Amino acid sequence: MKQELISKFNEIYGAGGELRTYFAPGRVNLIGEHTDYNGGHVFPCALTIGTYGVFRKRTDSKMRFYSVNFPDAGVLEGDLNDLKPKKEAGWSNYPVGMVWTFIEKGHKIDAGFDMLIYGTIPDASGLSSSASVHMLTAVAIRDLYGIEGVSNIDIALFGQYAENHFNGVNCGIMDQFAISMGKKDNAIYLDTSNLEYEYAPIKLDGMKIVIACSNKKRGLGDSKYNERRAECETALSELQKVVDIKTLGDLTEEEFEAHKDAIKDEVRQRRARHAVYENQRTKRAVEVLKHGDVEEFGRLMNASHISLRDDYEVTGKELDTLVEEAWKADGVVGSRMTGAGFGGCTVSIVKTDCVDNFIRQVGTVYESTIGYKADFYVVEIGDGAGIWE
Ligand code: GLA
Repeated sequence: MKQELISKFNEIYGAGGELRTYFAPGRVNLIGEHTDYNGGHVFPCALTIGTYGVFRKRTDSKMRFYSVNFPDAGVLEGDLNDLKPKKEAGWSNYPVGMVWTFIEKGHKIDAGFDMLIYGTIPDASGLSSSASVHMLTAVAIRDLYGIEGVSNIDIALFGQYAENHFNGVNCGIMDQFAISMGKKDNAIYLDTSNLEYEYAPIKLDGMKIVIACSNKKRGLGDSKYNERRAECETALSELQKVVDIKTLGDLTEEEFEAHKDAIKDEVRQRRARHAVYENQRTKRAVEVLKHGDVEEFGRLMNASHISLRDDYEVTGKELDTLVEEAWKADGVVGSRMTGAGFGGCTVSIVKTDCVDNFIRQVGTVYESTIGYKADFYVVEIGDGAGIWE
């Protein structure tokens, strides 16, 4: 594939000069949803699907962008002297936002570049294709411009900064961290309150991780996401009047129950309850996994979905259909929505010899209930972003 992308690069931009190649994965979160902006824990992993990129430094201030996935968009152009988000810039707002962030953080980018990408993450699937493009651009910039003293964690923070301040999405750190710091066959247990993390080997003997993509267009997703954040922030400030905490992640379930009446609205109370319980559930899930108890891990995944459905209300008919049908299928250890919700994907742990039947059964019921097809992917856990050797 590398040769094909290089030929395509030469065809689009002309041959010559030094080409460099990079890869950034997508991610799936196994448990710990909507906890990363509440000072809680998450448990994501990088995937072997992701975004491949070919780059070449230029001598002027121009930047050119081409995606093999969106040939109709053609070559998009930008300039180092005009780093602003623009509607017509489409997906190139991600790399431009990353360039802007490096400069904001005091690094020198003295010339533009040509960039060609090819992504294997299904679009708008909730597997972080946008964070993948951000991290791809970040590792490329660091390498192309010889920028020193920027760690992989810094790069994750830069990606979050670009999303928050350039692209206007108020996301947490999970996606960028998972993509930048991913490790083959491991999930990352990350405490988002202080960025302490540890790798946890995922040994699923005789089981597979299966992702079901709802193919629902997200639409209102981003505004709802910001709305949930705001609800949690208000609930936190109400709780802070009666208990000394910095984030919702500081509370145990018992502490939450003792103080919840400080939250003056029933809906906000449920939002906060999810954040608190999901964080504790994630800690427990990692603990049981360490002891090899995949069955209990699966039960906690199921409980996570119920909380996201009933308390946090970010699932919707499509994700609920996929998960509730998965729960009925043979050989399913656990199943839940993953990512922001409101569309996107579910993640299930399925016994290997039941995977085909799982896909058939869940796929058939989904199509007859929702009216269009879901896509299924049996995925592997891969390494984080870096040079594509
Ligand atoms: C999106 C955001 C993450 C996280 C998840 C929900 O993927 O980008 O920061 O908040 O939603 O867990």
